Amino acid sequence: MSNAAKTYPPSTEMAEGAHVNAAKYDAMYKASIEDADGFWREQAQRVDWMTPFTTVKDVDFTFGQVKINWFADGELNVSANCIDRHLETRSDQTAIIWEPDNPEEAAQHITYKELHAQTCKMANILRDLGVGKGDRVVIYLPMIPEAAYAMLACARIGAIHSIVFAGFSPDALASRVNGSEAKVVITADYAPRGGKATPLKTNADQALLHCKDSVKCLVVKRTGGQTTWTEGRDFDYKALAKDAADICAPEAMNAEDPLFILYTSGSTGQPKGVVHSTGGYLVYAAMTHEVTFDYHDGDVYWCTADVGWVTGHSYIVYGPLANGATTLMFEGVPTYPDASRFWQICEKHKVNQFYTAPTAIRALMGKGAEFVEGCDLSSLKLLGTVGEPINPEAWNWYNDVVGKGTCPIVDTWWQTETGGHLMTPLPGAHATKPGAAMKPFFGIKPVVLEPASGDIIEGNGVEGVLCIADSWPGQMRTVWGDHERFEKTYFSDYKGYYFTGDGCRRDEDGDYWITGRVDDVINVSGHRMGTAEVESALVAHPKVAEAAVVGYPHDIKGQGIYCYVSLMADEEPTEELRTELRNWVRTEIGPIASPDLIQWAPGLPKTRSGKIMRRILRKIAENDFGALGDTSTLAEPEVVDELIENRMNR
Ligand code: WTA
Repeated sequence: MSNAAKTYPPSTEMAEGAHVNAAKYDAMYKASIEDADGFWREQAQRVDWMTPFTTVKDVDFTFGQVKINWFADGELNVSANCIDRHLETRSDQTAIIWEPDNPEEAAQHITYKELHAQTCKMANILRDLGVGKGDRVVIYLPMIPEAAYAMLACARIGAIHSIVFAGFSPDALASRVNGSEAKVVITADYAPRGGKATPLKTNADQALLHCKDSVKCLVVKRTGGQTTWTEGRDFDYKALAKDAADICAPEAMNAEDPLFILYTSGSTGQPKGVVHSTGGYLVYAAMTHEVTFDYHDGDVYWCTADVGWVTGHSYIVYGPLANGATTLMFEGVPTYPDASRFWQICEKHKVNQFYTAPTAIRALMGKGAEFVEGCDLSSLKLLGTVGEPINPEAWNWYNDVVGKGTCPIVDTWWQTETGGHLMTPLPGAHATKPGAAMKPFFGIKPVVLEPASGDIIEGNGVEGVLCIADSWPGQMRTVWGDHERFEKTYFSDYKGYYFTGDGCRRDEDGDYWITGRVDDVINVSGHRMGTAEVESALVAHPKVAEAAVVGYPHDIKGQGIYCYVSLMADEEPTEELRTELRNWVRTEIGPIASPDLIQWAPGLPKTRSGKIMRRILRKIAENDFGALGDTSTLAEPEVVDELIENRMNR
C-alpha cells in the first residue's frame, strides 16, 4: 500500500520560495542530529534573551533520573518576545484578527501596539489581585482576544497559566484549579458559540464552591448577560482595565521556569498537568510555526483550534506572535451560520495559511462542495491538519476542493507533551502522501520499536510503536507536582526513550505514517480522552456497578465513545437511564466526553485474575468480532457471546 500511495511533490514555486527546500532540509536535519548543541544554539537566536545562555542541552532520559533542560542559564520573557520586540517595526501591524461567532458582529484587528497595551493592563490587574512570579492562574475563556491577553499577561509577570477548555464542566474546572493551586480564575460571563451562549460564569461559580475561598475570579463581560456576583471574590475585567496602566515591565524568567501547565488525558487515572518551559518551548514553537507553515512576513495565518488545547497555545498564540505574524482567532464553529463559515472567513480576511483538524474536514465534506465553491479562496497558499490521522478521502477533498490542488498539505503529528510539531512534511522540501506525517522535524530522532520486546526495528516497510530517542527544546519537562508519574508514563516502558503512546509505520520510502494510539487513549473529534476518565465518571453514578469504555471508528469524529455498563442489581436498563448516564458524563467531564453508544453489559469479559479484557471489547465495538483472538484466559467465555449478540455498532 505504501508504495502505491500517490505522492504530491512541492510546486517549483514552493520549492524555490520556501524557507526550507529539499537540500536545505537534508543538510539542516543532519546538522541537528550530529551537532544538536550547535544547531539549537543558533536556532535559539530567533528569540531575544535578557541574559544569554551558556549551556544548550542538559538531558537524561534514563528512567529514575529523567531531566530535561535547555538553555538552562539563560533568561528571557515570552511576552516581550511575542510583543515588545516587534514594536519598533510592527506597532501598527495587525497581530490578532478576531472573528466573532456572529458574522454580523464586527471583526477586530488588534495591532501589536494595542496588544502591548492590553497585555500590560491585564498583567497589572493580575498583579493587583495578588498574582506574582510562579503563581498559577487558570484561564477558562471563550475564543476572545482577552484569552491571548491573559496568556501573555501571565507570561509577562512570570505567572504560570493553565487553560481549561471552555467545554469542560465545573467539576473538571474545579479539579484543575485545585490541582494547580491557582490563585485566580479568569472567565467570561458567557461563551457564544454556534449561536448559543454557554454560561461560563455560572460554571465557574459552581466550580469555585469546591475550591479555596481565597481563589479570585476575574470576569470578562463578553455578552453582558445576567450572572451572579460575589463581592470581594469576583472582579469585572473591563471596568478594571479602564483605569489600569498600559505599561508593565516584563519579568526576567529563567529558560527553565514553567510557562504553562496544560492538563491532558492519559491511559490511566485523572488528567495530568503537562508542564512546558519558557525558553525551549518558545524557540521550538516559533521555529516550527515559521518552517512548517512556511510563514512569511505579511501573511495572514489561521489556526482554527481553541486556545484550550495545545494547538491553540503553540500555533495561535506563542509561535505566530513570536514570529511577528498576523494570527486569526475565531470564536465560533465551522457550521454556523452555515457550513461555509470557514471559507467565508478565509475570503474575508484573505487567509494564506489555514490549519485545522481532520474531524472538521470530514464534517464539512459531508455538507457538500458547494459551501466551499461559493467562496474566493485564492489567497490560500498552504493547508495543514492536526490532531488525528487523516483518512485519504478527507485528505483528497481538502486538497482538491479547498486547496484546488495548489496548496501543499502539512499533516503535522505532535502531542500536548511535545510542545510543537515532531513530524510533518515541509511544504518546500517534501512530497506529501495522503495520510502520512512523512518526516521528522529538525532534531527529532524517531525510532520504531517492537511493542513487546522494545527492540529497535531497523529498515523500511516496518511497523511498531513510536518512540523518540533524544530530547528537543519543546519537550514537556514534568507532570505538575508529580515527576515520578512523568517518568513512569513516558520513560518506563521503553528504557532510554520518550514513549509517544502512538503506533507508526515507516514505509518503503522511509516516510512515517501514524497509525493511532497503542494505549487506552482515544481521539474523539481531535479531542484526546482517557477511557479511564469516562469509566470513572460512569461508575460514580449510583446505579452503575462497573463500566468499560473503548473507542470505535466513527465517520465524522474519527473515534466515538463506546461504553459497556453493568448496572447495580435491581436496576432496570431503560432508555431513560441511557440518557441519564449520557448527561451524567457530560456534567462530570464535559460535553466532549458524551458517550456515543452505551451497551448494557450483564458481565464484562475478564481474565481469571479479574482484569477486563479490553482487546475483546474493542473488537466487539469495532463490529469485528470474527477476530477476537485468544479468549482462552477468560474466566467466563459466555459473557462474550452475550455482548456480541447485543452489540450496538452494526
Ligand atoms: C494524535 C494534539 C495522526 C496522536 C497536537 C497523538 C495525530 C495525539 C496527529 C496527541 C496526526 C495528533 N496524525 N495522529 N497529524 N496529530 N495525533 O495531545 O495519537 O491533543 O498522540 O495533541 O493525537 O493529541 P494532543
